[in-house]
Amino acid sequence: MNDLIIKQIDELTKAERNFIANSSNFSAAVYHFLPKLNWAGFYFKSGNDLLLGPFQGKPACIRLPDGKGVCWASFSKRQAVIVDDVHEFPGHIACDSASNSELVLPLIFDGEAFGVFDLDSPDLSRFTQDDAVLIEKCLNILITNSDVKSLIDFYQKLE
Ligand code: SME
Repeated sequence: MNDLIIKQIDELTKAERNFIANSSNFSAAVYHFLPKLNWAGFYFKSGNDLLLGPFQGKPACIRLPDGKGVCWASFSKRQAVIVDDVHEFPGHIACDSASNSELVLPLIFDGEAFGVFDLDSPDLSRFTQDDAVLIEKCLNILITNSDVKSLIDFYQKLE
């Protein structure tokens, strides 16, 4: 079952190098593959913020200010963060009051974090360590198949 999403991500991204195009299809594929999600998408480092990128779900917070919330925790630690109950997480940024649990993974290139991939669920304790491992494998395929350098250069020029 998990091999299917890994194969699908590779099929969707291997013929194209543009990161925004590939990450758009990535968020759609993950959103429709994993059950019980109400949001799945990217934030990219821009200036002192994490800036909204391609996603699936309801409209979301555009800029996440430095250091606050689950996305910044994952970005700063460069580690996956699983939150069983977002209401218990100090500084959690609520874009949709329906969200109750969250999984965030950092995007790493050349040892540096350049953004995060964020998944939200209306269920409490929706995400497991196995989910984090699976999505990390998928992100590694996306990053390998796409031109990350151009994306980082583009976002560095924005403020
Ligand atoms: N909850 C996140 C903000 C992004 S939304 O969930 C889409 C956070 O605390 O960083």
